[in-house]
Amino acid sequence: MGTKELKFNSRTIHGGQSPDEAYGAVMPPIYQTSTYAQSTPGGHKGYEYSRSANPTRTALENSLASIENGNYGLAFGSGLAAIDAVIKLLGPGDEVISTSDLYGGSYRIFKRIFEKYGIVFHFVGMQDTAEIAKHISARTKLIWVETPTNPMMNIVDIKLVSQLAKKHKILLAVDNTFATPYLQLPLDLGADIVMHSATKYLGGHSDVVLGALVVKDKELADQLYFIQNASGAVCGPMDSFLVLRGIKTLHVRMQRHCENGRAVAEYLANHPKIEKVFWPGFPDHPNHKVAKGQMKDFGGMISFVPKGGNYQDAIKIVEKLQLFTLAESLGGVESLAGHPASMTHASIPKEEREKSGVVDALIRLSVGIEDKEDLIEDLRQAIE
Ligand SMILES: Cc1ncc(COP(=O)(O)O)c(C=O)c1O
Repeated sequence: MGTKELKFNSRTIHGGQSPDEAYGAVMPPIYQTSTYAQSTPGGHKGYEYSRSANPTRTALENSLASIENGNYGLAFGSGLAAIDAVIKLLGPGDEVISTSDLYGGSYRIFKRIFEKYGIVFHFVGMQDTAEIAKHISARTKLIWVETPTNPMMNIVDIKLVSQLAKKHKILLAVDNTFATPYLQLPLDLGADIVMHSATKYLGGHSDVVLGALVVKDKELADQLYFIQNASGAVCGPMDSFLVLRGIKTLHVRMQRHCENGRAVAEYLANHPKIEKVFWPGFPDHPNHKVAKGQMKDFGGMISFVPKGGNYQDAIKIVEKLQLFTLAESLGGVESLAGHPASMTHASIPKEEREKSGVVDALIRLSVGIEDKEDLIEDLRQAIE
């Protein structure tokens, strides 16, 4: 039985992998080498230099392709390095339509790096696809979607956007960091490229920074591989190994992240001192129906605003949390809390931030896999 026929949970463990040919090692060895012996110039065993390819990275890239239902995986030194490679498919004058509510670092690389090279970015609220259509021109080459969005948990209908993109021959890339392939499979919904900050749920243990792309199309994979090798922002073998190991428990971790996420979201929503909770699992979330249709469950990312709260109130709450660690990042086994306005989204101008709801009082939680009663007790003492 090839690993392609396996169901998702089995593919997180076996997808694209088989025991190592040298000694039968069940886990792919960490090939900590930059170069490979050649018997004659060009006479090698498939690897010549580790920027171009490394066996541990290949094992990870095969696993990534397998779990995202793609054909080709590419691993990078960080999520941003993966985003950088996608935008390098474009040239001066090309235009990109992106979700307006997105990770601050994605906004920063678009605006502060690539605009300098003549690429034009439009930031659009994509809950209504008609808004995207308004910005399409003959120069539009890429639609960039984050769903659920960071940190407002808005949901974009991937299938609907992909129909629009296909009609206009525009590439569609989806940042699947928050959902992971356990919850949502963008390539199956019509996207051309799936991107990950594997630093988050795929790695899952807050011990590695790594990025990934997965595609189905060979020509697109070849173009991205050329950029990966030519620009050189690859990940090392040790980091590839760590993410590969993380992926093997993705399905069990995600199940618990979702269960705890629901318990925390419901607790906060019923708390008299909380103004608003952003979580796509609530039936009154504006795109709950779309989330239900394209996601298996609703994940462990939640944002909330304390009643009548301001910048200082949010800071006080995150400082009082004890089990939730105040830190950048998300998706690890441990619960983290963040203050987007001063942390993850500080690189977006305040005016732009607030247009998409990232107010000064907003707090973002990455709900981990501890006992939910302990997490709720920690939130209770910090809020009250
Ligand atoms: C949704 C999302 N995309 C991309 C990134 C960037 O990934 P990295 O930090 O691995 O470069 C992040 C990081 O927080 C993120 O949350």
